[in-house]
Amino acid sequence: MDERIQVWVGDITTLKVDAIVNAANRQLAGGGGVDGAIHRAAGVDDLQAACRQIGGCATGQAVLTPGFRLPARAIIHTVGPIWQGGQQGEPEQLRSCYSEVMTLAVREGFRCIAFPAISCGVYGYPKEQAVSIAVEEVERCLETYLMFKKVIFACFDQDMARLYQAALGRGQAT
Ligand code: APR
Repeated sequence: MDERIQVWVGDITTLKVDAIVNAANRQLAGGGGVDGAIHRAAGVDDLQAACRQIGGCATGQAVLTPGFRLPARAIIHTVGPIWQGGQQGEPEQLRSCYSEVMTLAVREGFRCIAFPAISCGVYGYPKEQAVSIAVEEVERCLETYLMFKKVIFACFDQDMARLYQAALGRGQAT
């Protein structure tokens, strides 16, 4: 069990970390859920201009913008798969979100990042399966990226936190 992984309950936009991860759409157009919260907290005009400059992001990929008015220095936008029953490559695409974000974070020299539960809202991914992929992939990456200090799974509610704790083989949310 990697002590660098933390489960936390609250609004990810409040975290002062190197980067928070956004569950974006392929157009990087902003939206509801955590995407909407991040665009509002970062400053819609600045963030949308930065996203327009990038142009878009394929499912399973990750792109970087500044954090603007967020406490976090940067935002790593990734696009999770839309759940279609699990036979359309969704698990591999979701796994790719986590590994691409971790790789980009290392490339940028980030040491502490926070993830929301990618695809677990509007995109309808079964929560338990998504959380298991998230934990597996982050643990695998941390075995390689020894310079990483902390990865926070930022949950919007206690139920999600309990799923992460269970997947990590731990008791209560810290
Ligand atoms: N902080 C942390 N977690 C949050 C926050 C927040 N402020 N707001 C929502 N969440 C949680 C949700 O409860 C869910 O567990 O983030 C998780 C991901 O849910 P969504 O934001 O709906 O993301 P996703 O399922 O990946 O769907 C992405 O939704 O908002 C649109 O533009 C976005 O098209 C994209 C799609």
